[in-house]
Amino acid sequence: MIVLGLESSCDDTAAAVLEDGRERSSVVASQDLVHAPFGGVVPELAARNHLDNIIPVIEAALERAGLELSDIDAVAATRGPGLLGCLLVALQTGKGIACGRGLPFIGVNHIEGHLLSTEIDEVLPRPFLGMVVSGGHSALYLAGADHGWSLLGATRDDAAGEAFDKAAKLLDLGYPGGRQIEALARGGNPQALPLPRPRVRGEEIALSFSGLKTALWHRLREHPDLPKADVAASFQCAVVETLVDAARRGLEKSRADCLVVTGGVSANGALREAMATLCREEGVRLVVPPIPRCTDNAAMIAYAGWRRLERGERDGFDVEPMPVWPLGERDG
Ligand SMILES: Nc1ncnc2c1ncn2[C@@H]1O[C@H](COP(=O)(O)OP(=O)(O)OP(=O)(O)O)[C@@H](O)[C@H]1O
Ligand SMILES: [Mg+2]
Repeated sequence: MIVLGLESSCDDTAAAVLEDGRERSSVVASQDLVHAPFGGVVPELAARNHLDNIIPVIEAALERAGLELSDIDAVAATRGPGLLGCLLVALQTGKGIACGRGLPFIGVNHIEGHLLSTEIDEVLPRPFLGMVVSGGHSALYLAGADHGWSLLGATRDDAAGEAFDKAAKLLDLGYPGGRQIEALARGGNPQALPLPRPRVRGEEIALSFSGLKTALWHRLREHPDLPKADVAASFQCAVVETLVDAARRGLEKSRADCLVVTGGVSANGALREAMATLCREEGVRLVVPPIPRCTDNAAMIAYAGWRRLERGERDGFDVEPMPVWPLGERDG
């Protein structure tokens, strides 16, 4: 089955073609330059840019796959969670293509896409523990044998990627800031700045990053002359240790023997190394996506859609976007 996948939930417009779950092409039009002057995503600008980009990325994905629109057997598009005006673009385009050509259509949960992004290369045995660390989410799920997801814990406030972006803003590094912080941190001392390792009291696995961001703000006011590389390294170290601690507790609770770490922050080399050390200590397998599949892409959406289509699931053309869509709820 050849599936066209579409994604426009935030600030990346993406299209991909998969054949029986294998990637034939994946194209992403980033809007980083559009939003950089504002230090964050401007929803209306993002939606308007998706409108400009969606047809060109579909044409590019088909061309790179060596296919025509008439070769597509089904369409999958992100249905949520995300920004409403943004979600509408891929969802309506996907429905339009499927309706016009009489093809099956499926709306995909973006977080399920992230969690399944590694399976384009290798299907994992269940159960496994899946950690999503992205711009809008930081959560741990147990992937069950029945294709379902159980939420084990999530952030109470900011997501890990959001924390990186806010720290980068405090350091005047531009948007999005995760990659810049990582690059700067390579030359810095992670012990230079004392920062908290936030843990939610009484909660087994819940995460929190807003206190860390505030602590960084105070430290920068107290020590304005600290080298930025030391600040970046200290901040990155605090986020990484917090995520590793949550993953350790998730492994203890779930007794899973495989950990998947995915989402934009999973591109971070320090996080990958620390998770690899944790998994060696715990005798658990670590699986991470290739770097281009960490941040938003449509290959993961086409893949998650294909898995559901293979199980006989379909959505009608009246399906609506879901800006808030907890994974596991209402066919999530
Ligand atoms: N190397 C890196 N180190 C740390 N953070 C990174 C790195 N690369 C990307 N990020 C962060 O990843 C985030 C983007 O990830 P992604 O595209 O998966 O998120 P999103 O789509 O904005 O959010 P969501 O998937 O939750 O809807 C940004 O916050 C960015 O700073
Ligand atoms: Mg994402």
